[in-house]
Amino acid sequence: MQIIDGNKVSAQVKEEVRNQTLELKEKHGITPGLAVVIVGNDSASRVYVNNKKKACEAVGFNSEEYALPEQTTQEELLSLVKTLNEKSDINGILVQLPLPKHLDDKAVIEAINPEKDVDAFHAVNVGKIMLGEYDFLPCTPAGVMEMLHSYDIPVSGKNCVVIGRSNIVGKPMAMLLLHENGTVTICHSRTKNLAEVCSQADILVAAVGKPKFVTADMVKEGAVVIDVGMDRDENGKLCGDVDFENVKDKCSFITPVPGGVGPMTIATLMKNTLKAAKLQNNISD
Ligand code: GUN
Repeated sequence: MQIIDGNKVSAQVKEEVRNQTLELKEKHGITPGLAVVIVGNDSASRVYVNNKKKACEAVGFNSEEYALPEQTTQEELLSLVKTLNEKSDINGILVQLPLPKHLDDKAVIEAINPEKDVDAFHAVNVGKIMLGEYDFLPCTPAGVMEMLHSYDIPVSGKNCVVIGRSNIVGKPMAMLLLHENGTVTICHSRTKNLAEVCSQADILVAAVGKPKFVTADMVKEGAVVIDVGMDRDENGKLCGDVDFENVKDKCSFITPVPGGVGPMTIATLMKNTLKAAKLQNNISD
């Protein structure tokens, strides 16, 4: 069994972004800029946003944080997005989800200029991903693919099972595995014989949001297990969707939580922001 080290792969990706950012500054005088918008006081979102800002600093981007109060109105948020769309030193706009319940996240995402949508959540970018002709890769699924590549784990012809069908992870994850010729099954809360389906997987991706949901009986001997979960166990300790201790010995590869998929999401965000800066300035590499 080999543990896939997300911190290590993410450091390599960020190093590459850092080098390309230096070159962009030297050759073209451009510094990529990311605007991060957070509304309300969700503590997990606060941690994610801080990590995104730190990553920007590490790769040499400018980052601007817009922390809005819980009671922000839809009009105020849309107005901020509009301002950021028009700001030429901002290349990427990220509105941290989830938003407070009274706000319409769909309308907010659709208001972002697709060229600045570094999360790849806008319908235009989702459509491009579906067609396989995308500018921006969805951050978490692309981070997972990068880890598979980094460990030379083949996808073509493999049985890939994704548990979870969210727009942020499950659906685009399935699409990226399909683009690399995996045979993909998406499971969800209505799936019959879930354990049986999962136990056929060569590559099993868990994105359910339930602590230790994937147990050893659901995992094939020698499977690759990717854990997208960021959950809390019964003692309030951070854990994933996979019962790591009991599953790990059955796997050929497994990602830990923390230190697995999480850092890769941020690394992809950095890649997307750099790409956005290049595209908006008509620079090809
Ligand atoms: N909330 C959980 N994951 C993400 C993400 O990748 N991007 C944004 N904007 N919000 C999230």
